[in-house]
Amino acid sequence: MPETDRDKWESQLEAVRAAFTAAAPLAAAEAKALDDIRVRFLGRKGELTELLKLLKDFPIAEKRELGPKAQQTKEHFEAAIARRQAELEETLLQSKLSGQKIDVSLPSYREPRGQLHPLTLVMDEMTRILTLMGFSLAQGPHVETEHHNFEALNIPKHHPARDMLDTFYLKDAPGVLRTHTSPVQIRVMEKQKPPLRIICPGRVFRHEEVDASHSSVFHQIEGLAVDKEVSFADLKGTLDFFLKELFGPKTQTRYRPSYFPFTEPSTEVDVRCLFCSGAGCPACKRSGWMEILGAGVVNPNVLKAVDLDPAQWSGFAFGVGVERVAMLRLGVNDMRLFYENDQRFLVQFDENFA
Ligand code: DAH
Repeated sequence: MPETDRDKWESQLEAVRAAFTAAAPLAAAEAKALDDIRVRFLGRKGELTELLKLLKDFPIAEKRELGPKAQQTKEHFEAAIARRQAELEETLLQSKLSGQKIDVSLPSYREPRGQLHPLTLVMDEMTRILTLMGFSLAQGPHVETEHHNFEALNIPKHHPARDMLDTFYLKDAPGVLRTHTSPVQIRVMEKQKPPLRIICPGRVFRHEEVDASHSSVFHQIEGLAVDKEVSFADLKGTLDFFLKELFGPKTQTRYRPSYFPFTEPSTEVDVRCLFCSGAGCPACKRSGWMEILGAGVVNPNVLKAVDLDPAQWSGFAFGVGVERVAMLRLGVNDMRLFYENDQRFLVQFDENFA
């Protein structure tokens, strides 16, 4: 390789460097222009690339000298281009960001969240009021003995409540699905000596046609107070307070004589119609009153069944249907809605249902 080739190569390198500077990569206004410069000098047929290709024909000693020069130039070009590329990307990002400001006042998406079933809400509310009044919670099994569900409650064998139509009897064992929460009265008194005040919220079962106001599985809250000289007046005071707390301070009550085997005297308690205030409407069947619960003074036979002396102890009891109260409180006119678990229905009720 003659001396002049080397000179020529070196001056060509100078020329390429000058051309690169003149192309002003650091002033390229956009990515496309910068890339054109990259291709012109560093591409497969780029000006610097072509010059580098010639190096292989130089003798080894000259290669050693010229190689690093060439490499240095290449790195210089690459660095300049990379730097400008980074600048251009940053500018682009900034202009995008300033174009799309984040609105921090925009409400976020609502995440669906679990909530209590309306029947649970109403049952909890009733339980809350009664426990504040001094009643403690008691529980009993869903599968009951006939003794607890009937006999001990003074419901004799021939009583219509024991009819096959009302009661679910177990198939292969003695026992029934409890038809009311009243057997819990017996279970509590078997274990606990008076004075006592308990409530039992729970599920009950009846062989019943399902319609807008009947279900074969529903809920009751049972109440029982036993002490010395408990009277019907105590029952009235307790229930009046409970119903006013539940339905509002203006709630009016009416006590109608009734019959339950486990209470004597027995009563059914009505409240002034919550929809028409007594004027008469379809909801109260034009009577102005709505039946809410059954109650009475504990029958001496019930006390005897648990070995309590009726001469020494007396009590009152009540049983209230949760579904019925829930329908009145929530303005629901068909009980079946509570069991269908349609989210569109359920989500309408939260802890602020009152
Ligand atoms: N157990 C009755 C029922 O299922 C409700 C009831 C009425 C309960 C009077 C009582 C009561 O404790 O005293 O319909």
